[in-house]
Parts: sequence; structure tokens; C-alpha cells
Amino acid sequence: MLVILKRDGQEISRQAAQLIASAVRKKPALTLGLAAGGTMVGVYQHLVTLHKQGSLDFSRVVTFNLDEYLGLPAAHPRSFHHFMQENLFAHVNVDPRNIHIPDGTIRGNYDQYCASYEEAIRKAGGIDVQLLGIGRNGHIGFNEPTSSIGSRTRLKVLSQETLDDNSKFFAPGEESPRCAITMGIGTILETGKILLLATGEAKSAAIARSIEGPVTSAVSASALQLHPDVTFIIDDAAASQLTQRDYYLRVLEMTALLTPDRLS
Ligand code: F6R
Repeated sequence: MLVILKRDGQEISRQAAQLIASAVRKKPALTLGLAAGGTMVGVYQHLVTLHKQGSLDFSRVVTFNLDEYLGLPAAHPRSFHHFMQENLFAHVNVDPRNIHIPDGTIRGNYDQYCASYEEAIRKAGGIDVQLLGIGRNGHIGFNEPTSSIGSRTRLKVLSQETLDDNSKFFAPGEESPRCAITMGIGTILETGKILLLATGEAKSAAIARSIEGPVTSAVSASALQLHPDVTFIIDDAAASQLTQRDYYLRVLEMTALLTPDRLS
């Protein structure tokens, strides 16, 4: 696990976009796992800029999003479909046939639908690079606390903390979704390389428990300790409860000297 400490969200976005861009340049038909949410906005802005400058081609990239709210059609302004369209897909040349986002409008037979999402990932050869945010409660995707570490794509009930965090995005009186379709922790652990991004004090406890705490279903992101290639890219505020900060900085120095590819 590599911990990249940055000053702020801008630096985090630039670093993450740089790593994704390098991966796409190395493998133009990269399978990229994507996340929605505020933390990703800057990353997508940087990727769009690189594309517009002519230095990043998405024409062969295949994408799989982590999750979608149950009950929201793609055109709903709060759906992750809409978020992805607005922030990334409308501005780059990903082939629409290569875009996969769980369908929030499915009804019944959820298991069959979720198995087909897993099958699509397998058929694409697996996810090469997975981008993750993290919830205040340590969720990745919508794998809320107590999610099984071996879980696969499935219907998941959202926790109260997540409902509270989301309520601000919905109009007063508008009911926010109570469930989502999400890749499982087991699905995420099978991806080739993981980049987890976090900013702000509100994420600091979840970050400390994920990186330095025991692996526990109480903090879904702690399961990432079981993955061989995870990079946390976090700002000072999100890193504020880490106890091994000096060590991470020394590792970063040595990484820049010995294996600079991991940083660019
Ligand atoms: C979104 C997702 C979630 C978010 C997390 C952080 O696709 O899977 O796990 O990454 O809730 O959200 P923000 O970035 O809005 O704080």
C-alpha cells in the first residue's frame, strides 16, 4: 500500500488524473473502474483537459462504474449516470458502447442483473485500474459497514450516515434513494490496481481506520489492506488522524527515487 500525501484537492486530482492517463497511454484498451461523488469532480476535469489538449485518447477504454442509486433513471439529475455524463463522458471520446453503469431502474430479479454486471466485467478481462472515493463511514462503492469482504455486485441498503450525507443533494421533500446497486468488496479486490482518493477532515477517521486499523467489516475500506496494489491519495486534512505520517513521507521519497513509475 502506498500513501501519497498532498496539500489539497487540486493536487490530489492532478496526481490521480496523471496516474490514470499513464495507465491509458500504456494500455489504450484499459478497463477503468470509475466512481461518482464530489471527490471525483476534479479528477474528471483534469482528464477532460488532457483529452482536449490531445494527449489522452479514450477511444478504446472500457469503463465500469461502481454503483448507482436504485430507483433513479439515467436522466435524473442526481443519478450517477447523469453525474458521469456531465463530468466526464460528454467531454471525452469514450465509446458509449464501452460505458457500463449499474441500471438504477431494474425491478425484481436483482441477483440476475447483478450477476450479469459481474459477467460483463469478466468478459472485459477484469478491471485494470479502479478509482475509489470513501464515505465518512469507510464505505467504498456503497459497501456500507458490515458488508462482507467477499461480497459481489448486489443490491445494498444505504446506511443512515450515507442517507444523511446524500440528503443535501435532494430537494426538500424529495425522497432520496434508500438502496443502491454496487460492486461488492470482493469485486473491488479483484481489480488490478486501486487508487483511493479522500479530502477533508470529515474523512480522516475513516482513512486512519482503513490504513492503520485492523481489517474489519466495520470499515469496508480496511479490506483494501488485502489488495496487493493500492495507492491512497489524500490531503493533509484527510491524513490528520494517521499516526505513521513521517514513515509514509519517507516511503514517498524512496518511491520517487527507486520506482518513480508508481507516482506518475
Ligand atoms: C460513488 C461511490 C461512493 C463515494 C463516496 C465518497 O460512486 O462509490 O463510495 O465515492 O461516498 O463520496 P464523495 O466523494 O462525494 O465524498
